Amino acid sequence: MQKIIILDFGSQTTQLIGRRLRELDTFCEILPYNKFPKDDPSVIGVILSGSPYSVHDPEAFQVDLSRFLGKIPVLGICYGAQYISHKNGGKVEQTGTREYGRANLATVDTENPLFRGFDKNSQVWMSHGDTITAIPSDCKIIASTSDVKFAAYASTTQPLWAVQFHPEVFHSLQGTTLLKNFVVDICGSKQEWSPASYVETTVKELKEQLGNDRVILGLSGGVDSSVCATLLNRAIGKNLTCIFVDHGMLRKNEFAKVMEAYEGLGLNVIGIDASEKFFADLAGVTDPEQKRKIIGRDFVEVFNAEAKKITDAKWLAQGTIYPDRIESLSITGMVIKSHHNVGGLPKEMNLKLCEPLQWLFKDEVRRVGYELGMPERLIKRHPFPGPGLAVRILGDITREKVRILQEADDIYIENMHNYVCEDGEVLYDKVWQAGTVLLSTIRSVGVMGDERTYEHPVALRAVTSTDAMSADWAQLPYDFMAKVSNEIINKVKGVNRVCYDISSKPPATIEWE
Ligand code: XMP
Repeated sequence: MQKIIILDFGSQTTQLIGRRLRELDTFCEILPYNKFPKDDPSVIGVILSGSPYSVHDPEAFQVDLSRFLGKIPVLGICYGAQYISHKNGGKVEQTGTREYGRANLATVDTENPLFRGFDKNSQVWMSHGDTITAIPSDCKIIASTSDVKFAAYASTTQPLWAVQFHPEVFHSLQGTTLLKNFVVDICGSKQEWSPASYVETTVKELKEQLGNDRVILGLSGGVDSSVCATLLNRAIGKNLTCIFVDHGMLRKNEFAKVMEAYEGLGLNVIGIDASEKFFADLAGVTDPEQKRKIIGRDFVEVFNAEAKKITDAKWLAQGTIYPDRIESLSITGMVIKSHHNVGGLPKEMNLKLCEPLQWLFKDEVRRVGYELGMPERLIKRHPFPGPGLAVRILGDITREKVRILQEADDIYIENMHNYVCEDGEVLYDKVWQAGTVLLSTIRSVGVMGDERTYEHPVALRAVTSTDAMSADWAQLPYDFMAKVSNEIINKVKGVNRVCYDISSKPPATIEWE
């Protein structure tokens, strides 16, 4: 399949470039700035991203432009534009005309294929300290703002375009037009990426890659692993064995419901109720990290014991998706949280890794899920932490506390599924993630009928986010909150108070523990 390479120089908006290209049904790969692939005929163009560095910084990222310049179409964005100019006889300086935020293209050459369809004064988004003061001799200016003469330039001798603004951000109002001009008109993208084509190609590739080999996959009930399993099932059928471990801290009836859904999809699933072991090992443990460690360790033990029984397995499949990979490829050294649910399979099993979703973003995984005919409820599921409700119960874990939390949480989440907002969208679908926390280390006084109660509060949590790296608390409708609160207090024995968590991340996190 044709692809565009985006070379990442560490800009915060690099992923957004990728996103925009996917919206244009064009396959792209984001790679570290120095990892341009050798001899890959499917690469039809390259985009150089922005960067936190100035081209003059000693530690600025360097790339060998001769790998692609003059060979395939190139688009430099911000640092990318400055870098190309800097390396080809142009000049980049600190002039004091730093431009941040909105600007307008006072002049724009709409005859140039990059700006076809642009309006005069089109709004763009600038974010640069240095500015280009001279461009390479074979280049000409194709757009300027009142302050920035070289807002965009293009070569007259080779397929090279460069813009100092950021077409990928929302505030560049015709940014998508620009990217479409580059990707479709200039690079010749056939816009062939679609969930259907993805499924078709991937199933074919998986058949070739796996042949008659047996594959093991750990299911969590979440979207990624479920889509991964369904895709593999389509490719290799019964040669796929899925293992779904119940640690006892899933949502109410979830294990049974998810198993039913998996069986409905024709998956070959082994469900293991290991709750006994988990509860025993967690007894009396209150420290959040300790709880996580125990659950992680037990999980691996249970999973491995089962996986080892499949003696002829050759592959371990995982639902790793693109953002997971970008995080691990991150070049700027940002600390990113990784939560691995399955880890450390014994080396002697010698399994090769199969990750068919590794190029997809979350919403693309969902689109593939629909294409595969998976149930909507499974596809739209909010993320759920690997350690489950254990990180939503303060203090030690007991079966009784899990039961109380499951009841309260079920009321909250079911009401969210049933609440239709004014714009017609279901509340559950508007929220990135929602859950209930049992504040079991706290008791407060209440009154029910004529009786004094002394029980635990629960905190409801709902956040909006795009990647869980940052999140804001969701502004849920008051009538919805009133109904949920009433139902929880009336129906869940052990809870006499309901609070709503209005903390954003950072500084709080999504989970309480
Ligand atoms: P935090 O609490 O760090 O969570 O804001 C970010 C996202 O990660 C999920 N999460 C986990 N997922 N194992 C997981 O598989 C874990 O230990 C874990 N802790 C948090 C959390 O639900 C949110 O989506």
